Parts: sequence; structure tokens; C-alpha cells
Amino acid sequence: MATTSANEKNEHRVFSQKILSAADDVQRLSETRKDAFPLFLDKHMPLIQDRQLKCSIGMAPWVNLNILEELKSFSRVFAMRPGRFNVGGTGFFHAFGLWCVIRSKKPSTIIESGIHNGLGTWIMRQAAGNHTKFILVSPSAPGIYKDESRTTQYFTGNKFRDFNDLPWNLLVPDKNDSLIFFDDHQAGIRRIKEARKFGFKFVMFDDNYIPGHGDNLSAKKLCNPNIYSSLNNPVFTYQDDFGKKSRRLSNNDYFVLVQDFRDSVHTYAEFPPVWNGPNRIGVTNEIWSSIGQPALFNFKAVHSFAGIQIDVSESLQYTHFVYMELFV
Ligand SMILES: C[S@@+](CC[C@H](N)C(=O)[O-])C[C@H]1O[C@@H](n2cnc3c(N)ncnc32)[C@H](O)[C@@H]1O
Repeated sequence: MATTSANEKNEHRVFSQKILSAADDVQRLSETRKDAFPLFLDKHMPLIQDRQLKCSIGMAPWVNLNILEELKSFSRVFAMRPGRFNVGGTGFFHAFGLWCVIRSKKPSTIIESGIHNGLGTWIMRQAAGNHTKFILVSPSAPGIYKDESRTTQYFTGNKFRDFNDLPWNLLVPDKNDSLIFFDDHQAGIRRIKEARKFGFKFVMFDDNYIPGHGDNLSAKKLCNPNIYSSLNNPVFTYQDDFGKKSRRLSNNDYFVLVQDFRDSVHTYAEFPPVWNGPNRIGVTNEIWSSIGQPALFNFKAVHSFAGIQIDVSESLQYTHFVYMELFV
């Protein structure tokens, strides 16, 4: 389990101060030069972070895995998934992300918020083995796979309560050994705060959309503000609950949330696309590769692996699946 050294805390404090002072400057300048923001943001952001647009903080847990061997094992398992097609649910890339995080962290409890057909549950069960406890939270019962383990608890149908309203202190006494998969289209920053409030440290997000896309205020939209200018400056927006709640944020409010993000997140590691291919927002390869991690494998190389059936269109489903460790 990761610990936070005094040095790290100090670096974090200095970094946070830089963000606050940068936010003040941006606010001042945007008040005096209304037309300059967010173009100005682009010049200003080096204060906040280096010029690269990717966001990466700390160490990914999967670095010690042999990713090629994992991909081969995963692909054989994935080929046996129930239902086969998981429209509206986790595809190959994110499922492999779940697999690698679980295989490296080996949590004793897994929580999934947003279960749809249950295929994310199924792949996590294959990665975790039989001894991991699962707690599954979603308005409706799963359409395809129901986990029958004796220790599994479902909070669906009449028993459904939002993640924030469940008695986590009773349900999961040891938060340090648990891992949450948020796949429920709620505002990422809200889920981060709620998870921390209950003492959860390790989380993964499926719907980690880039600015101007998706239906929630994701971590990706707060992690590195430079990304806005690279995407034709979409406006700062607070979105929650599948985009049903949506309001424009002032520059100041946006930077307060950036600060919240920075105060909350010890590690932010996006699981890379498994292979290179067309992206879901139709931007050039140059822009796409500047805002995310490089693909793990070349498409042609993956294609030649024996036994790996791949669908070219899987790359269109990639939304910067992310693993995070939170300060608690
Ligand atoms: C994208 S799907 C989940 C896909 C699934 N995790 C998988 O791996 O295939 C989103 C799910 O979130 C559920 N949902 C909606 N509001 C929710 C909430 N407040 N808490 C948990 N789940 C919610 C939806 O009913 C839907 O089943």
C-alpha cells in the first residue's frame, strides 16, 4: 500500500499553492481582458504544470506486470464472456484495464457502482478469483451476469441506494484493502470526494471524458487544465448524473475544483489504449496522442498474436480509463 512521505506532502503543498496563485492571476486577467481567456490559459499554465498535456501523477500499479503475458491470458478469458456484446458497458480496452489493476493490487473487496449487464462484474471476478468480496450497486439488477458468490452483496432494485448513501463503515471495515470501480456517469470529482469521506483510497473510473465531451465532470477535465486549449477551448462546465445536471463554471469556480482534485489525488494513472486505432472524438492522431498515454501495442502486432480475436472498433470506446489513489 502506498504511503505519503513528508517530502511528498511538502511538494504537494507547494504545487497546490502554485495552482491557487495561478487561479488568482487567471481570474484577474480574465476580468481585465475578457477576450483573452482562455487563450491566455495556454500561456499561463506552465506555472501549474509542465507543457505536456497528458496527466500522470505517481506510479501506476500495473508497472510490475508482464503486460504481454497478461494480455494473452486476458484475451482468452474475454473471449468466453457471457452475452458477448456489452452495448453501453465496458469494452475490451477498459476491461483489460480492470484486469491489470486487479491483478496487481489483489484487493480483498471490490465495489462496483453502475453494473448494467454485469459484464464488468464478470471480468473483475475472473481477474480477482473466488475469494474477493464483491459489493455491487446499481438501480437495476444486472441484465446478463449475476455473481453468485456467497459473499457478494447486491444493492439493486428495491435495495438500491446511491454510493453516497450506503453504510460503508459497516459494509467494508478495511478500506485499505478495497478497490472501487465507478462506472455510473456521476461527476468524477463528486465521487472522489465521497470515496475519501468514507476513507476509500483506491478507485477506478470508466467515464473519464476529456473536456467538451461526455456527461460528467471527470478527473480528466481537472487534472491538467492545459488540455482545454488543445481542444479548441471548450468551456468549463459542471456536469453530473449522466449530464442531467449541467451548469457553466466561472474560471474561479473551475480552479477551485482543480484545487480540490489536487488536494484529493495522490496517484492518477490512465490505463493506456491497448492498441492504436481510430479515436472516439475524431481528432487527429497528433492531438489524440498528445492528450493521453501511447498505446501499449501496435495494432498489427496485436493482430498477429495467436488466439487474440480483436475488433478494430474497440479503440472508439476508449475514454481514458483511470486508476487513482486518494489522500485519506
Ligand atoms: C455504463 S453502465 C455500467 C457498465 C458496467 N459497469 C460494465 O462494466 O459493463 C452505467 C450504469 O450505471 C447505472 N446507474 C445510474 N445511476 C446510478 C447511480 N447513481 N449509482 C450507480 N449506478 C447508477 C445505470 O443504470 C447503468 O447500469
